[in-house]
Amino acid sequence: MVRYEERMDLSPDDLGLATLSVHAGNAVDPGTRAIRRPLVTANSYALPDDPSQLSWSGTDTPLYTRNGGANQHWLEEKLARLDGGAAAVALASGVSALHAVFFTFLRAGDHVVSSDVSYVAVYRLLTELLPDKYGITATLVDTSDPEAVRAAIRPETRLVHIETPANPTTRITDVAAVAEIAHAAGALLSVDATFATPVLQRPLALGADLVVHSLTKYINGHGDAMGGAVIGAAEVIDRIRAEAMVNVGATISPFNAWLIMRGSITLPMRMRAHCAGAQAVAEFLDGDPRVAYVAYPGLSTHPQHDLAARTLDGGFGGMLAFAVRGDAATQNRFVAALQIITSAVSLGHDESLIVHVAADDERARFYPEPFRRWGHLRFSVGLEDPRDLVADLDRALTAIVGPAR
Ligand SMILES: Cc1ncc(COP(=O)(O)O)c(C=O)c1O
Repeated sequence: MVRYEERMDLSPDDLGLATLSVHAGNAVDPGTRAIRRPLVTANSYALPDDPSQLSWSGTDTPLYTRNGGANQHWLEEKLARLDGGAAAVALASGVSALHAVFFTFLRAGDHVVSSDVSYVAVYRLLTELLPDKYGITATLVDTSDPEAVRAAIRPETRLVHIETPANPTTRITDVAAVAEIAHAAGALLSVDATFATPVLQRPLALGADLVVHSLTKYINGHGDAMGGAVIGAAEVIDRIRAEAMVNVGATISPFNAWLIMRGSITLPMRMRAHCAGAQAVAEFLDGDPRVAYVAYPGLSTHPQHDLAARTLDGGFGGMLAFAVRGDAATQNRFVAALQIITSAVSLGHDESLIVHVAADDERARFYPEPFRRWGHLRFSVGLEDPRDLVADLDRALTAIVGPAR
């Protein structure tokens, strides 16, 4: 089998992200000489002549897809390279990846410091399910303030978990500053980097121990597969594989791994287009009197704009939040009047997606004042022509609120 490293006679460490996105994890298929690795849907692999030494829970020898499938492993090879980690484990969804981190590294009596703005399943796991079932406790803080993280650390803190940019407020956390605080306390730092992707930030290089992605979002990018991943040092990833993959069972399907492998080829160029589109749309909304507020790290009005400019590479991401001046029914009518932008959950797809979350959402108390007052429209800016997106927003604003002046 000719792997990309051998074919090129180059160190992957010297290759750019665009090159790795195309080539990492790929190789010539030895059976067919196809230049793309195939989709392997078999769920079992041929056993050695004497299987007596095999562990049925093992992950080293090809055995059974829940212990690790071929497409999963090829995808992991690419994800590790993209994030500059020694190893990666790919799982069935972003939430299964987050759960795998908590399940593997926390036990009864342990404490977590986590961002008070995070994906909803993290909130549910850390504030309800893990405390109720396993006696794990969590303190939620504003992680954009490293001193708040430091103040929340307890002797039993084993993990600090952050999300940057955070869903849905786009709050930015200084990964290097929080890594220092976590490590001084003997805790691991995990970073959900779903919004940033390795194109904008590589948290391991900033001191994080674990990077988590929902592959469902930008890394796949086409809205047609679910997956999640954790990237980090080999011994840390091996523990997740052994404890949370084989014995919990949220293994990624071969087809989803194959789709994500294909989708991720264009990740760097898609992220550039998402960033450019989001910047144009955010500037339009920011200058429109019919809009109550806009949260986008690329605007100078964003509370962590300078930190974002210093720590994100080449753009501010494709996610923003805003609200139309009006009540919840106005936000709903505005969304219904859009013709190009689709009302649906999820994000990071090729098409633009918007979702209205009202001000009475249970987690709104953690959000900045304008989110609490107006609710928010979480907007994943897609790959359409930004002029068409701006025109779509303008048309819907005019239809629901009236002309700008
Ligand atoms: C930041 C973030 N992390 C994790 C997830 C969960 O990913 P999945 O839906 O693939 O389980 C999401 C989903 O929206 C997300 O936005």
